[in-house]
Amino acid sequence: MNELNLETSRLRLRSMRPSDIDELIYIFGDPKVMASFNTDPFDRTQMQHWIEGNLEHQTMYGYGLFSVVLKSKGVLIGECGLEHMTVDGNQETELGYDFRSDYWNQGFATEAATAVRDHAFNVLHLPCLISLIRVGNAASKRVSEKIGMRFVAEITQNGISYGNMRSTADPIHAYRTD
Ligand SMILES: CC(C)(COP(=O)(O)OP(=O)(O)OC[C@H]1O[C@@H](n2cnc3c(N)ncnc32)[C@H](O)[C@@H]1OP(=O)(O)O)[C@@H](O)C(=O)NCCC(=O)NCCS
Repeated sequence: MNELNLETSRLRLRSMRPSDIDELIYIFGDPKVMASFNTDPFDRTQMQHWIEGNLEHQTMYGYGLFSVVLKSKGVLIGECGLEHMTVDGNQETELGYDFRSDYWNQGFATEAATAVRDHAFNVLHLPCLISLIRVGNAASKRVSEKIGMRFVAEITQNGISYGNMRSTADPIHAYRTD
């Protein structure tokens, strides 16, 4: 499969690889990150399943999550991309992002999400994007607002993603681009 790259001023977004596990575990094995999902940190086996899920999803839908590399250091600091899901009976594409906690609040998620949003509209020609955000996740809400999304609804029947990182008991707000 051809590797897909998106470039921003500070970041390179490239197709995720199985070998990214050693760097992705810095994100998904971090309690500070996983607190946002009310989920325990991943162990290596869970991390591997999650990556496999993303790669299978990528093959099925033609889009998925990118690994986000900080160009100045060559370090993988996050992931950002698209996931197809059914939400309250509707087929949707979610724009999502998770970053290493030691790189938070420097605008990286916003920079990556902007590139993915533009790719989704200009290259994939998707009609709209959603983001599902647990109530209380102020940083994620702020990122969605900064890329032009607005709150649309509290959802009841969550599209459980392949990572199984959301509990249906959590109140989730849906944000949308249109
Ligand atoms: C959400 C997340 C990806 C944001 O990454 P980031 O690179 O820090 O995001 P940015 O720097 O682009 O923007 C963060 C914004 O949230 C704001 N913010 C951060 N914490 C906040 C808080 N507790 N209350 C209010 N605003 C907050 C920042 O000030 C910034 O806004 P500003 O640019 O207007 O100042 C990161 O916090 C993360 O990985 N969290 C854990 C996983 C997660 O929640 N993923 C999203 C699931 S829906």
